[in-house]
Amino acid sequence: MAAKTTLSLIKADVGSIAGHLIVHPDLEEAARSSLKDAKSRGVIEDYYVTHAGDDLQLVMTHRNGVDSRKVHELAWQTFEKCTKVAKDLHLYGAGQDLLADAFSGNVRGMGPGSAEIEIVERPAEPVALFMMDKTEPGAFNMPIFRMFGDPFCSAGLVIDPSMHSGFRFEVCDIEEHKRIFLDCPDEMYDLLAFIGSKGRYVIKRVYPRSGKFPKDEPVACVSTDKLSQIAGKYVGKDDPVAIVRAQSGLPAMGEVLEAWSWPFLVSGWNRGSHNGPLMVVGMDDNRTSRFDGPPRCFGLGFQLANATLVKPPVDLFADAAFEPTRRQAAEIADYMRRHGPFEPHRLPMDEMEYTTMPDLMEKHKGKWESVK
Ligand code: 13P
Ligand code: 13P
Ligand code: MG
Ligand code: MG
Repeated sequence: MAAKTTLSLIKADVGSIAGHLIVHPDLEEAARSSLKDAKSRGVIEDYYVTHAGDDLQLVMTHRNGVDSRKVHELAWQTFEKCTKVAKDLHLYGAGQDLLADAFSGNVRGMGPGSAEIEIVERPAEPVALFMMDKTEPGAFNMPIFRMFGDPFCSAGLVIDPSMHSGFRFEVCDIEEHKRIFLDCPDEMYDLLAFIGSKGRYVIKRVYPRSGKFPKDEPVACVSTDKLSQIAGKYVGKDDPVAIVRAQSGLPAMGEVLEAWSWPFLVSGWNRGSHNGPLMVVGMDDNRTSRFDGPPRCFGLGFQLANATLVKPPVDLFADAAFEPTRRQAAEIADYMRRHGPFEPHRLPMDEMEYTTMPDLMEKHKGKWESVK
């Protein structure tokens, strides 16, 4: 049997320049040198380091499978080295996402986010990596559904015989730590009933249903770590990432990208407490600014080749075709901002990551009068 390839995308915010805007180049350099060393030791086959706003992104290929202790430890140690650089530079939020004092087997539940797939590579294996800043994992629900479930987005669902049988969605309940598998198109309405509640039910993986693919190899995977639950208090939004495979019986890369042609609303933005439009950006706009946003998604396209990453990757959203989408996102940002402290711009009380409410309740507790 062919050797399997694992693609791991592991990220953390370990410090940024001028507030929560962008990763400092020295952190990326420190990460590159750490991963270069690991490659020379044979821990990983290949790597690529980048950022999404203030989140440092480690792309790694290897033969160790998902949840590999070696690879997760490498990511953790790399983030620790970068935290040291961030502290030396007095960057903002140095070490922000490293919530545990020491590594204990797996980065899941320790602060960093991870999306990983283990696959037998096809002769040509195009993959897209999507990295969001200033939002939460459920922000991927709509675009992932549109790629693999919506025939108005992916024409292949209707006209490609090997996509016509649809896809299976693994959905996690991130409050109760349970999961369910739902088949599309048969159970599409049930699926939508859950994933429309994107703060609770998040698409974790997508599997093929066509006999052309091994049934147990995911074709998409999303990080679903929930920092606020891990830390028990606000420590920054989760800023999720996803891996999506494309072509030859899966959505064409153009269909994968079509899912982002409209700026839908996500929660996060300033202080993790506001709804706003998701703006897809190329590297030139890969930072957050206005009101710490608006929330962004940066995308890179690679080909895998025997567990290496063919470089340079494609900057997926650096294209004139996405200019109208960005313009519309900027207009929606204006519209949403005009609501100031009012919902639905500001999140409902129980979803805010910052709140003065407990203090206000205490301050005014003796002044409430009962009304008949
Ligand atoms: P494949 O079936 O070769 O992936 O081609 C589909 C395509 O790229 C159409 O846009
Ligand atoms: P990050 O989660 O990207 O660090 O942003 C935190 C924040 O509160 C921005 O306003
Ligand atoms: Mg930050
Ligand atoms: Mg961030």
